Amino acid sequence: SPGKAWGGRFEGGTDPRVEAFTESISFDARLAPHDVTGSKAHATMLAEVGLLTDDERDAIHDGLDAILAEIRAGKFPFRTELEDVHMHIESALTERIGDAGRKLHTARSRNDQVSTDLKLFVRESCETVDGLLQDLQRAFVGRCEGDLDVVIPGFTHLQRAMPVSASHSWLCWVEKLDRDRGRLRDCRARLNECPLGAAALAGTTLPIDRDRTAALMHFDRPAANSLDVSSDRDFLAEYLFALSLTATHLSQWAEEWVVWFSTEFGILSLPDAYTTGSSIMPQKRNPDVPELIRGKSARVVGALMQVMVLLKGLPTAYNRDLQEDKSPLFDAHDTVVACLELMPQIVAGATLNRERIAARLEDGFLDATALMEYAIRSGVPMRTAHGVIGKLVALCEQSSRRLADLTDAEFAEADERLVKGGSEGLRGVLGAANAAAALKSYGGGGREQVAAQIARWQKR
Ligand code: ARG
Repeated sequence: SPGKAWGGRFEGGTDPRVEAFTESISFDARLAPHDVTGSKAHATMLAEVGLLTDDERDAIHDGLDAILAEIRAGKFPFRTELEDVHMHIESALTERIGDAGRKLHTARSRNDQVSTDLKLFVRESCETVDGLLQDLQRAFVGRCEGDLDVVIPGFTHLQRAMPVSASHSWLCWVEKLDRDRGRLRDCRARLNECPLGAAALAGTTLPIDRDRTAALMHFDRPAANSLDVSSDRDFLAEYLFALSLTATHLSQWAEEWVVWFSTEFGILSLPDAYTTGSSIMPQKRNPDVPELIRGKSARVVGALMQVMVLLKGLPTAYNRDLQEDKSPLFDAHDTVVACLELMPQIVAGATLNRERIAARLEDGFLDATALMEYAIRSGVPMRTAHGVIGKLVALCEQSSRRLADLTDAEFAEADERLVKGGSEGLRGVLGAANAAAALKSYGGGGREQVAAQIARWQKR
């Protein structure tokens, strides 16, 4: 290993199988832009405190820019012996600019360097995913005015429960996605302390200015404990949790729409461009894209678990295990981005099967709860009203009728208070559309409340 950056104390070479086993360049090359950002800030600071001349700093900056341009153009040679992205860039720099390149790693270790690169990656990723979540929110909100007056069955236990505006369902996802965005903001805010200058684990005897490097990279401040820095992957776990919950939300959405797309539910049609056929059954249209969004969420949750297990046994400061944090991070990020890039088109392109929905809307006694609440307003105690309406539902089932088909006399027999002063009020909540319109409470699924929420989101 005499040729290696760390080769000074070694006599023999490294077994090539060890090089292959320990390398990370095959997956950490994508950190190159962040590695260059960190190195340029470091060099700027080193020059300001007198550890580099201005000429050396300029040579470093120009050299790093040229190397990054080559990497971006796919012209940069990667070699397993050079281990990781940090070593590749530093050794290429030294090849080009000589001794100035040999000074770049002054008062720095790969331990604080990789941590800085990762924080820059996660910080940027939080913003990328936030933007995509916003696009998806827009797709849902964009449907809302057009679908406001479509009353659909709301389900609990996948059983017909109460009627709601279809737009109530779209805004349900908008709310969940908004909390996802809040978690990304929290993650981004908390990670924003700069690791650089913690060096290997204990800081340095050299007169560096950590506030300056932090400011140059738009961190709020330098991280306060050098031992903590090189072992801290909290930000990564937090980001993966935020992604996991987002992936879980996308998976729940996918599951709901797969069910709604079925012949049995028949609520939605999905656009041709986002469904696929069967290799044997000529009639099939399958919701493969939502199914894969549901399936890919497993990778994201798996990545979170992988990192949690990776971290749990580690002593403080750097341990090489930490190199294993990158693959799950990148995979989870790429997976969520891929799902989020497809979803807005599916959401915008789906159509409600209005006629089918309307034809079956009176199935399942969606108006039973509104009728019970009418009884409560007429002075019947809630538990009594529940029993009374339950019996009326049973009566309807026996005689294949809806609640609206019952006569005034039948209502009166169930409980006189239902029709005291006429049956007009009672008739006004029967039928799914009337029952939906009668929903008045804040945040509920009736037209009035949903319209108010649509207006709020449109403004946002
Ligand atoms: N490639 C390493 C990683 O991903 C960089 C840090 C290596 N540090 C060390 N002391 N070996 O974590």
